[in-house]
Amino acid sequence: MVETLWLPSFELALHRNRGTPTGRLVQLATVRKDGRPSVRTVVLRGFLAETHRPHFASDTRTVKVEEIREHPWVEACCYFPQTREQFRLGGLVTVASSESRDPGLVKARNEVWSEMSDESRLAYTWPDPGRPRHHAVPFSTTPPDPHNPMPHFCLLVLDVREVDHLELSGNPQHRWRYHCDDRGRWSGLEINP
Ligand SMILES: Cc1cc2nc3c(=O)[nH]c(=O)nc-3n(C[C@H](O)[C@H](O)[C@H](O)COP(=O)(O)O)c2cc1C
Repeated sequence: MVETLWLPSFELALHRNRGTPTGRLVQLATVRKDGRPSVRTVVLRGFLAETHRPHFASDTRTVKVEEIREHPWVEACCYFPQTREQFRLGGLVTVASSESRDPGLVKARNEVWSEMSDESRLAYTWPDPGRPRHHAVPFSTTPPDPHNPMPHFCLLVLDVREVDHLELSGNPQHRWRYHCDDRGRWSGLEINP
């Protein structure tokens, strides 16, 4: 694997913040059809096996997936309160869905589904997200099969191309910018905070 300069700092931050409730929460920004930004919280589920690609579990019925299919460039922002660090990861998302044929993506999708809690899996049995709620129709309370992902369950796999890492601790603070060129080679530079 080409050396991914930012990854050791990011993994260290994940490790050092593992005890904090927000340690794995990420703000994921997409571009709406009208060109406006849209941002929401998602959970970082890990990295695709043997790659440095972070991934998030989601539902193909949500607006963000529609937006990503139209405009796959996103930015994911994480703040680690314990170490007072911010990482902004920019890059392209691949949607690993029930239609994906890439063996690595199929495997990752199955694994994340089976590792999720019953409570998390249950949300995928609910009616279409973002549609008007009909209280007369009760939501299912029976969790789906942990070995067979619901058809609209998907992974958003981020191919990171640029990273901005800000460390608030220290006076002055520290900030680094990393960039991946078209040939997959990373370069990094310390910049003014
Ligand atoms: C703490 C927290 C964690 C969340 N984790 C996820 C997640 O991992 N995946 C996801 O699709 N939505 C997650 N959500 C819900 C999203 O923030 C969002 O409301 C939902 O996905 C619909 O977004 P959209 O309409 O922009 O597609 C989470 C919300 C919160 C508050």
